Amino acid sequence: MSPKLQPVRGTHDILPEEFERFHTVVTCARELATLYGFKEMATPIFESTEVFSRSMGETSDVVSKEMFTFQTKGEESVTLRPEFTAGIVRAFISNGMQQHLPLKLFSTGPLFRYERPQKGRQRQFHQVNYEWLGDASPEADVEMILFAGHLLFSLSGQKTCTLLINTLGDKESRSKYRDALISFLTPHAANLSEDSQRRLRDNPMRILDSKDPRDKEITKDAPRITNYLSDASKTRFEKIHTALDNKDMLFFQDVRVEPSLVRGLDYYSDTVFEFVANTGDLGAQNTVLAGGRYDGLVEQMGGKPTPAIGFAAGVERLLLLVQNNPKVNLTRRSVRIIIIPLEDMDYVEVHYFTGQLRNSISEHLTRSGSRLAVAVEISWQGKLGKRMEKADKVGATHTIILGGEEFKSRTCVVKNMQTGEQEEIELENIFHPQAIAAIFKL
Ligand code: HAM
Repeated sequence: MSPKLQPVRGTHDILPEEFERFHTVVTCARELATLYGFKEMATPIFESTEVFSRSMGETSDVVSKEMFTFQTKGEESVTLRPEFTAGIVRAFISNGMQQHLPLKLFSTGPLFRYERPQKGRQRQFHQVNYEWLGDASPEADVEMILFAGHLLFSLSGQKTCTLLINTLGDKESRSKYRDALISFLTPHAANLSEDSQRRLRDNPMRILDSKDPRDKEITKDAPRITNYLSDASKTRFEKIHTALDNKDMLFFQDVRVEPSLVRGLDYYSDTVFEFVANTGDLGAQNTVLAGGRYDGLVEQMGGKPTPAIGFAAGVERLLLLVQNNPKVNLTRRSVRIIIIPLEDMDYVEVHYFTGQLRNSISEHLTRSGSRLAVAVEISWQGKLGKRMEKADKVGATHTIILGGEEFKSRTCVVKNMQTGEQEEIELENIFHPQAIAAIFKL
């Protein structure tokens, strides 16, 4: 026997039962997006490599180590998207969406990063992602962060998260701070991790984010951005922090200003934030959601200057957060109807009947917007008793017996498998979505 094929390291199959939970989380995230005025859009799963390297920064971990990049046959370098933001901004520019500002855009789907897999960290993962382009006001930051908190609150059913917030300041503040950091870190350069020695030249702020104990030891006494903020950035951040640190309107447990929070991507400016979950289920990867303002990115990628703020949450991490919440029904109510044709039935008639029934059900579901999961299947072979037993075993809610005298008199027998009650219905009824809804309690 040849060896069994396995999924690639860091990827996993989402089997039907898990998919249902996965789908519910994404549906909640999508419904909240609508509530906050977001419209959904999709970008390609792969883009020219430059889309990511130009936006996230050549020296970021994602671009320098984690991208799945390959040459196409036309010798173009393309990359499987490691995040949504860069692709959305590329699409915003290439589709001339500037004239429709302000825009609130929601996206969801798979992303790819070559990271070391562990619980809550995969090489193929999924995000729900929200971008708000065209509003520079601090009120937009506050609303966006409250929205992020609301998303986590509605999925976990309680205040389980801490908001970490920081400002990276505007261009002027960052440039002053960068100089101060370089002056502070240079005498310690030899003791920094290899990665951080490289970062010292290219992007010293990223060293503050390092998890390496050698870097942590040195950066604990590093100058803080707070002392280098321009008046405008300082006032802006204070306004945002004050609005969020208001216990009455919080969806989260608490708010903490975290000066070492710099986020790993180059495009951020001013407000950056993360939500960490205070539940044991997430292990080391307890950052469920993260984002920030990126006012310079659209221009940097070739568009007109456009302020923007956004965030993304990992769906796999949201799933760990949601599993203890009794308020979120992770599985949809389902109705499973099994049609059992008797031997005397013409198979063409069975297909006709089943087709009509499926059509009426689908019309009813579309019209009512119901999220009920309804299945209609046919059980062809075996004795009637055995087929009834099998239907019961697979969780059928109803069976329909087709054939015999009843069929000749244009009726069929519907059995409710939960109560055991049987009723004879006229075949005509299957043409009427309303009648179907009443019979099967749709
Ligand atoms: P990020 O911090 O790289 O930000 O990712 C956001 C979230 O995606 C993380 O907090 C985590 O929940 C999830 N995530 C990231 N990597 C993995 C992984 N390997 N496995 C599982 N989950 C993961 C961004 O992606 C930004 N584009 C967010 C943003 C939107 N900023 C502005 N707009």
